[in-house]
Amino acid sequence: MKPILTYIQKEVAQAFQAEHIDAEFAMVSHSNRPDLCQYQSNGALAAAKKYKKAPILIAEAVAEQLSKNPMFSMVEAVKPGFINLTLSSSYLAEFLNTMAKEDNFGFEKTKEPKKVIIDYGGPNVAKPLHVGHLRSAIIGESIKRISRFVGDEVIGDVHLGDWGLPMGLIITELKKRKPELPYFQKDYKGEYPEKALFTITELEEIYPYASAYAKEHKEYREEAHTATYLLQHGDRGYLALWHHILDISIADLKQNYENLDVSFELWKKESDAQKYIPAMVEEMKEKGYAYLSEGALVVDVKEETDTKEVPPCMILKSDGATLYNTTDLATIVERMKLFSPNAIVYVVDKRQELYFEQIFRCAKKTGLVNKDTKLTFLGFGTMNGKDGKPFKTRSGGVMRLEHLIHEINEAVYKKIMENRSMSEEEARNVAKLVGLAALKYGDLSNQASKDYVFDIDRFTSFEGETGPYLLYTIVRIKSILAKYKEIEKESKEQKILSAYSQSETDLSLVLVRFHEMILAAYKENAPHKVCQYLYDLSNAFNKFYHENKIIGEEEKEKQSSWIALITLTLQILNCCISLLGIKAPDRM
Ligand code: ARG
Repeated sequence: MKPILTYIQKEVAQAFQAEHIDAEFAMVSHSNRPDLCQYQSNGALAAAKKYKKAPILIAEAVAEQLSKNPMFSMVEAVKPGFINLTLSSSYLAEFLNTMAKEDNFGFEKTKEPKKVIIDYGGPNVAKPLHVGHLRSAIIGESIKRISRFVGDEVIGDVHLGDWGLPMGLIITELKKRKPELPYFQKDYKGEYPEKALFTITELEEIYPYASAYAKEHKEYREEAHTATYLLQHGDRGYLALWHHILDISIADLKQNYENLDVSFELWKKESDAQKYIPAMVEEMKEKGYAYLSEGALVVDVKEETDTKEVPPCMILKSDGATLYNTTDLATIVERMKLFSPNAIVYVVDKRQELYFEQIFRCAKKTGLVNKDTKLTFLGFGTMNGKDGKPFKTRSGGVMRLEHLIHEINEAVYKKIMENRSMSEEEARNVAKLVGLAALKYGDLSNQASKDYVFDIDRFTSFEGETGPYLLYTIVRIKSILAKYKEIEKESKEQKILSAYSQSETDLSLVLVRFHEMILAAYKENAPHKVCQYLYDLSNAFNKFYHENKIIGEEEKEKQSSWIALITLTLQILNCCISLLGIKAPDRM
């Protein structure tokens, strides 16, 4: 089925045409006066000019046409020329029954599925995951799930940072601390240890230390550069060491992402792109795109329409070394070769926007991608503390992701234990699900490009626009359905009947918005639209719930219709939270 607006529009268009007015004027939107009507068409106002007729006369004529239409219970022309529309409750009920019956609630998958690579996560080897990586993981995962729901073939690539100076720094520091390790023996011909002789905890302490030390000590810094160079040029010992660093780091990262319920189809690394660099550079030179500027190899990417300066894209440094740019361009080469995607989406901190603009222009100009390959930068804002500055630990350090998750789980756990009788173990498990919902909803409910304030008290509240509130609503419906099953042993086919009350109609109206909401979230890469919808749906359900005694209802037909209605509500809530990467417990 199509979004409900499409069907309404079709009827309205026919009415316009019956009045000899072009169907293109028959646009329909949600009412901005929900107290007066559900939908509205302002087409008469637009048509008035062309047809040289008073808008109210057109509106009245169209309304007259529509008044016989069983789709509507009320059609009204109001000055200066609006057409107010309200659906008949039988139409609404039938629409819901069709949604309940069909796969994906009748949402039609795209007829032209695209192959899309989403570049998200973007962690760096041997550096602890911090909150900056959180947003990329959460947003990227949600966009992947939304695109899949719509029907695209989506490949998530973690694009691990494993190749630059950080590696050289770690090697240098390890060498200083444990010079006796075989990796550092010149002319060592034997086998290297099978397993790493250090742990992830050591590695994560080493990197920040080495990085700070290098800033103060020139010789050390140079040594790190040399180590990076040697690694990149195939030093046997350093390569063996680097493999160990990778193994340990990736195992730890996988665990971290699993805790976030985020997963990647591809665990590609920056280093995987290296082999594509020489040919790529050669071609850029041959075709005359790349030229030397102050020793460095660059490609001009500025365009006439630029309002701000877009500097050339640097391909190689003056000493011939490769950069972040080179790797990203070569990664595009690799992706085109291995997958020929229709689109690549990058979910990265918005401070890298100009950088990606240069990369995209360079890739297009030099023909690394096809003309119609869509390259999208989805920049996200910063997660701030309550002081409005980037989120830090209490002592002012960078907050590690696992600590953040731990804090939020603790806060939720305390709440659950405060007023509920649950075993310690169950409460811990529930706290994990609810904590993750708090974190993800707190993030995704904001437009991705905006900064937001991480507020643990607000995010973990069971009331208001929060993840826990949604889960609470889901748990409430599950519990009503379980009770109903107890009293109504044999299950019979349930149908949603015409609404008995306003709160029921209001709930139905949110439910039928599902299809257009998904399309908008997909087109705009906007998980926050799913969040807003979930909140509206939860509110509408809770209002209906408070106004009606579902389990106590004696009229069986009515009760059964309500059960069908809340079953559909539950299914849609579950579908939408899964698009955000959230799961609900059975109790909380
Ligand atoms: N590792 C990078 C960072 O921590 C993010 C990588 C983003 N993706 C990319 N293709 N450059 O900043």
